[in-house]
Amino acid sequence: MKALITLIFSLPILLFGCSEQAAKSGQNVISGTAEIGGPFNLINQDNLLVTENDFLGKPQLIYFGFSYCPDICPTALQKMGAVQEELDPDGDLINYLFISVDPERDTSESLKLYVESGGFPKGLSGLTGSKEQIDIAKLAFKVYSQKVTLSDSEADYTVDHSDIIYFMDENGIFKDFFFGRNTIQEIGQVLRKSVG
Ligand code: NI
Repeated sequence: MKALITLIFSLPILLFGCSEQAAKSGQNVISGTAEIGGPFNLINQDNLLVTENDFLGKPQLIYFGFSYCPDICPTALQKMGAVQEELDPDGDLINYLFISVDPERDTSESLKLYVESGGFPKGLSGLTGSKEQIDIAKLAFKVYSQKVTLSDSEADYTVDHSDIIYFMDENGIFKDFFFGRNTIQEIGQVLRKSVG
């Protein structure tokens, strides 16, 4: 919950802060928001190496989270699934990515089971990697996550993390973002301008 609150306040400040700065200096506003996203080298749920280039050619919805997440991640991914059902019923117009912030537990094998969970987008890619590879991806997307030890739980830690769905265009350029709490209608309204 703390993570969610942090992100709700930090990301808009980050984005709008950049835009405002860009506007003041007379640059195009896009130059501020374009700093979201960048190169990554990860492995997918089939244990294949992938980079950001593998997902170009279609707009992308990208969510960072972890498969042990009890509610925040499943809620956001189910929302992405519902958006897919509405705008992209065959699942071939948008690339859907889930990038782990818990590479210790999220192996490609466990992500394979996770991304095929009911209600998540069809064709969802589950990406993980070494801690260093994940850190590079997180940094590129300005993602916050923090391991939190749980002493009185069966799982020995959880991960506080941002609850942001990134919307990138077919060239991997940042277009917009949504919070997990945004409605399917709100997300659909923005995506409809680019898809279908
Ligand atoms: Ni989560």
